[in-house]
Amino acid sequence: MNPQASALDKFLDQHPKEENEDDVLIFRAVPGDHLRRLGGRSVFCLQTFKPESDALARLGAKIATETHTPCDLAIVFATKHKEETLYHMAQAVSLLNEGGRLVVTAANDLGAPSLEKRCAELIGGIQSFSKHKCRVFWGKKESARLDRALMASWLRAGELQPIQGTELLSRPGIFSWNRIDPGSRLLAECLPDDLAGCGADLGAGYGYLSRMLLSRSAAIDGLHLFEAEHKALEAARRNLAAFASATSLHFHWYDVTAGLPVDRLDFVIMNPPFHTGREAEPGLGRAFIRAALVSLKPGGRLYFVANRHLPYEKLVRTFASREKTLAESGGYKVMEVRKQGGDER
Ligand SMILES: C[S@@+](CC[C@H](N)C(=O)[O-])C[C@H]1O[C@@H](n2cnc3c(N)ncnc32)[C@H](O)[C@@H]1O
Repeated sequence: MNPQASALDKFLDQHPKEENEDDVLIFRAVPGDHLRRLGGRSVFCLQTFKPESDALARLGAKIATETHTPCDLAIVFATKHKEETLYHMAQAVSLLNEGGRLVVTAANDLGAPSLEKRCAELIGGIQSFSKHKCRVFWGKKESARLDRALMASWLRAGELQPIQGTELLSRPGIFSWNRIDPGSRLLAECLPDDLAGCGADLGAGYGYLSRMLLSRSAAIDGLHLFEAEHKALEAARRNLAAFASATSLHFHWYDVTAGLPVDRLDFVIMNPPFHTGREAEPGLGRAFIRAALVSLKPGGRLYFVANRHLPYEKLVRTFASREKTLAESGGYKVMEVRKQGGDER
């Protein structure tokens, strides 16, 4: 059970529906009993992470990746990116009708006390309680005490912006949003320049690996980017725009653990995720490796980077005729894997 959702349940039990509180927006919504407790109101869930969005869809929730619809009650689930949570709080307040309530649920280890302080600076008149190692804090939108300059600065800080020292755009809420991940950088250094045909980048983020690949391999005529975080995929679209005339680019908002909807790929590149939330989960990386190897054509090549201690070799060997460690540095390893079959030279 998500502790932020459990803490929110307590709030909803203690603070019933207010008069004229009809339209509810939930930022970074997750499944949970709060959806039932909000009954009698029109609830709209915002979620940009595909597996969560799919889970909400299975419950019949109304979902979108963004909205400009006004609301009477706005609920924000904090995320591990502080700037993203501030952005969602600012967005929530900008969409609230006068007198509407903002409610934020934040785990203590996501910086709940500091978020509460920031929220008080934004709207004033905050109340709160602690439950399940989370804080829930809330207040009303009252224009007279709203700090509009602060709201505008949080909105700006959550939008697409250049990553310092690069030509890439990114934003809070995306993996390693404000710096190139060292593991991805190591993989980029190891990518060969003879990749050709049609391939995929799994968990493509804001498109760093794809961009490095396309800038060095002119013989690539198709590339599929699969990414679960919609904000990242939209950034990747912008970051790869310059290559779209020479290469057929396909952007999939997609949960890779479901397997890929493409096959007979010539190559796959990836820096697979190995966390869900804060928990390490090597099974996620294994699902990515399996999806990649299933979708390669015989003899196709997979290049990936992983933390050195993660045990992927056994899985790789069930599909591969050849595997090689190309680099080991800074706690990462880069592997090249050739799928069984095809030209074995
Ligand atoms: C380690 S990051 C690598 C990102 C990017 N390739 C880079 O090098 O900066 C892994 C990426 O996988 C994405 N991801 C996590 N779970 C996913 C899933 N089930 N399906 C697709 N992508 C997922 C994350 O949003 C993240 O962008």
